[in-house]
Amino acid sequence: ADTTATLPETAPPLPTERPAGRPFDPPEELGRLRERQPLSRLTFADGHVGWLATGHAVVRAVIADRRFSSRQELMRSPIPGTAATGPVPPAPPGMFINMDAPDHTRYRRLLTGAFTVRRMRRLTARVEEITAEHLDALERQGPTADLVQAYAQPIPALVICELLGVPAADRASFQDHATTMNDNNATPEEGYAAFGAVQAYLGELVSAKRSAPTDDLLSDLTTTDLTDEELAVIGALLLSAGLDTTANMIALGAFALLCHPAQFAALRTDPGIAGRAVEELLRYLSVAHTGVRVALEDVELDGHRIAAGDAVAVSVMAANRDPAKFPDPDVLDLRRNASGHVSFGHGIHQCLGQQLARVEMGVALPALAVRFPALRLAVAAGDVPLRTDSDIYGVHRLPVTWDGGDR
Ligand code: HEM
Repeated sequence: ADTTATLPETAPPLPTERPAGRPFDPPEELGRLRERQPLSRLTFADGHVGWLATGHAVVRAVIADRRFSSRQELMRSPIPGTAATGPVPPAPPGMFINMDAPDHTRYRRLLTGAFTVRRMRRLTARVEEITAEHLDALERQGPTADLVQAYAQPIPALVICELLGVPAADRASFQDHATTMNDNNATPEEGYAAFGAVQAYLGELVSAKRSAPTDDLLSDLTTTDLTDEELAVIGALLLSAGLDTTANMIALGAFALLCHPAQFAALRTDPGIAGRAVEELLRYLSVAHTGVRVALEDVELDGHRIAAGDAVAVSVMAANRDPAKFPDPDVLDLRRNASGHVSFGHGIHQCLGQQLARVEMGVALPALAVRFPALRLAVAAGDVPLRTDSDIYGVHRLPVTWDGGDR
């Protein structure tokens, strides 16, 4: 039924407050909205009244539908309190996450071709080595440590450096820039500056690879018709998309597991569940919690008429907790079948690095449980600082200890 006639003139802003004491659960208002109206009106940060998709089926329908655009010059932030942005220029050549087909298609095809079976196999071996090195370092550093600094951040950062062929010594500066790029408190200028710094560095690296190729993705891509400028942007995109996301999945995943000790133990005693556990943690945690699309034409969806130009916020975390798709959605159950979650998106932009991310999580989290069976939080769960101010949810720090009598 067309419900547009009954809609209020004003629409609420995006609910962002998570329930007190339940850091892994989405804002409760998102659940109420999903129950009442899986597609509802929403006021964006700049005052634009658009839409919010919270139901699993509607979320998938929006992100699978090419009538909804990813072009950044059309985008608006749904997150209240984010710095108001002026007009945004179109994506630079290479920034295909912010392009529609067919511009997106050409880049996506070249990139998919560069994630070869051989490259993935080599990266998997490196993930295992890097993880083992960091477990050793943790052990030496302990019996208390910040798991974010000592484990969750360096592993994905070193893996991306390996993928791109970036010297490991340069990873610290990338880390800071990547955090700035996803920080809602950073001004757009700061965001662009961080991205620009990474891009400038990678530009030099790409021309070095052109004259002296090494065995990595950037060197491979120099044999295509992509320009140095495009390659630098693609490298910066891979860094910004693959670093914070994976790091926060590892850190927030460890936090969730330490709050569910039986499940943490299961990861150690039953290594066969690792694959399912990774999918379930992706579903349950939904670190990339909210996406945005813009209607290019009028679209009838779920009984509503979305007008051309309307922005649609897509709540990944609400979709992943939809009881119509996942029974007992608020229960973390590493043995459940969580496939169908939208944590990597869906449709043409579905995460390019998902295979690699799965390998990283599937190695790093079980390895932690095996090496540190007595791992526990070193502070009260309520004192773990949460990333409530970022496009990527997670924890700023995760103080852990493994010393003590509970072994
Ligand atoms: C796209 C999540 C790891 C590279 C996406 C999208 C999501 C996502 C939700 C879709 C965005 C959209 O529709 O606009 C995640 C999560 C990760 C992860 C949760 C970790 C657990 C990675 C890694 C890499 C990567 C490790 C790089 C090696 C990309 C790229 C895109 C993308 C390049 C854009 C794809 C396109 O537009 O065709 N990711 N990602 N991601 N991701 Fe990931």
